[in-house]
Amino acid sequence: MEKRTIMVTGGAGFIGSSVVRHFVKKYPDYKIINVDKLTYAGNLENLKDIEHFPNYSFIKADICDFVDMCRIIEENEVDGIIHLAAESHVDRSIKDPFTFARTNVMGTLSLLQAARLYWEKSPSKYSGKLFYHVSTDEVYGALELSCPNGTGISNECGGGPYGRDFFTEKTAYMPHSPYSASKASGDHFVRSFHDTYGFPIIISNCSNNYGPYQFPEKLIPLCINNIRNKKPLPIYGTGENVRDWLYVEDHSKAIDLLFHKGRVGQTYNIGGFNEWKNIDIVKLLIKITDKLLGRQENEDIGLITFVKDRAGHDLRYAIDSSKLRDELGWQPSLQFEEGLEKTVKWYIENRKWLENVTSGDYMNYYQDMYKLSLS
Ligand code: NAD
Ligand code: TYD
Repeated sequence: MEKRTIMVTGGAGFIGSSVVRHFVKKYPDYKIINVDKLTYAGNLENLKDIEHFPNYSFIKADICDFVDMCRIIEENEVDGIIHLAAESHVDRSIKDPFTFARTNVMGTLSLLQAARLYWEKSPSKYSGKLFYHVSTDEVYGALELSCPNGTGISNECGGGPYGRDFFTEKTAYMPHSPYSASKASGDHFVRSFHDTYGFPIIISNCSNNYGPYQFPEKLIPLCINNIRNKKPLPIYGTGENVRDWLYVEDHSKAIDLLFHKGRVGQTYNIGGFNEWKNIDIVKLLIKITDKLLGRQENEDIGLITFVKDRAGHDLRYAIDSSKLRDELGWQPSLQFEEGLEKTVKWYIENRKWLENVTSGDYMNYYQDMYKLSLS
């Protein structure tokens, strides 16, 4: 097998740790270097099971530090970058947009420039090199909820259950939150490097991910943790907002496929044709969690608490990932109910992980956010 040195940024986070684990296990001849600043969202516990693998190493660094990025890329002779490092939580971006612009825009630019300068020095220049940028469907904005009762056609051609439209690779960017605006800006810089310098890139825009090791500020792990602890389940607005969910390992497999076989310079959407209203997910989580904890059916339904809506809350996301399916044969391996049950089991069995990440400052942060949303 070909030898490669791949730098994964944000590898200590939720999706990054899944990508690192996937590549480290599947490609023993690759050197996988995890570069992460270890913000509140980065946790090396997420990689405990693979940290001893000889093809894995970790470097603590900030992607915004351009000099450091140049040094790391050059010293390690990096020929591939999978860029996931980011500030990723919409609610935080509403409170602190600067941090999002810094990491998601300037950090991405710093990495692009560092890789470009190093790769351009090589006699083979860009040959065999790739900058793979992991982005989100949120850059496209929001879709209409034209079938609020779910009466739309639920298939891959005729529309989604909650509306006719999907985000395709041709949908114009229309971000609404500081998070999505910062990711959109990062995406534009990545594409501009391709168009200006011929720099080799692939961008993928994925829908909402769920699975093990997700920081419990996001809807699914937050609800699982709160059901377990019999705490309120805060639902923004009416709970009618729709998201399209994908199991995190299916995302990692798509990244692997695109990294090796995707067309350079292209954008690919990744999603599971799996739209759910927030309120329905929370009800399903209560059902699964109560069952797994040996509680009575729907014992915890009363925990549902409708709170003030998120500012600028996008109504509906739905991804058309047929380009990836048609070009490379990718499709999600798990049905949502199956993936959700697997996920709930993981959080119940990994109570210690949850307790570690929800202690201290994070709890204070969460309590502040919760009080704010009630006010
Ligand atoms: P996460 O918040 O769990 O992890 C982000 C990681 O980046 C953390 O390990 C953090 O320490 C690291 N990081 C943050 N700032 C850094 C910096 N300046 N320098 C180096 N490292 C830094 O995020 P996630 O949910 O795993 O998302 C990963 C990527 O996937 C992001 O780019 C996000 O926009 C994208 N994405 C996420 C989802 C989702 O549902 N979570 C969906 C589509 C795309
Ligand atoms: P989230 O997990 O934050 O992902 P994103 O904002 O990137 O889609 O939220 C998923 C959906 O759940 C979103 O519509 C907001 C909603 N939500 C709640 O209703 N309550 C909550 O406590 C959180 C965190 C999210």
